[in-house]
Amino acid sequence: MAAPFIEALSVFAASEGARDPDLTRPMALLTDALLRVMPTAGRGPQPSQEVVDRHLDGALAAAVGTAGELIGSVVHEVGWAKPYPEYAGEPDMDAMRANYSYAPIIGSATDAISGGAVAAPYLSDEVFVGLVLQGPDCDYPSHVHKSEEIFWVAAGTSDWQKGDVWRVEEPGGVIHHESGVRHATVTRDRPLLMLFAWVTDPGCIPVIVRR
Ligand SMILES: [Fe+2]
Repeated sequence: MAAPFIEALSVFAASEGARDPDLTRPMALLTDALLRVMPTAGRGPQPSQEVVDRHLDGALAAAVGTAGELIGSVVHEVGWAKPYPEYAGEPDMDAMRANYSYAPIIGSATDAISGGAVAAPYLSDEVFVGLVLQGPDCDYPSHVHKSEEIFWVAAGTSDWQKGDVWRVEEPGGVIHHESGVRHATVTRDRPLLMLFAWVTDPGCIPVIVRR
């Protein structure tokens, strides 16, 4: 019997795959991988993050939809980390990293993106599932990764780039990035809280696109 969060995520993924043909294949990958997810013994010491201390409670209070319910059910189990330690010292990335955090929910025993700063409460080497909290007025520059990625927006309105096209995403929105597509996210005056799933290549490291 899987943990209640894994069961609930599996039901949600199956419904998302049935609702949107664009999500059918990635949600099939996710639900299949969830059959083999294992809980860990429990989390160790968790580093604090200023953006989380400042904005998580408000974002949780504003969260909508099944993604919001899933986030609320698991948020007490996760630890938060900063991505892109390899970009520290670059001014735009320092600004982004000060106002952005992510929390692995299902991942590898050693989190690749943070260099092991946090541990996921559930283990998988097939998929990477977690939370993103991006603070207000935060520019996450254009980047790429091999992983095929789906975001579910629980709270916050933000501007998104996919390829060369910009659009607005509201709470309740779903974003799908195929492998290798360039994307960026710019928040407005509210924090952005999302559930995400990487359904392929879960151990890869995103690369910022400079030009
Ligand atoms: Fe991404």
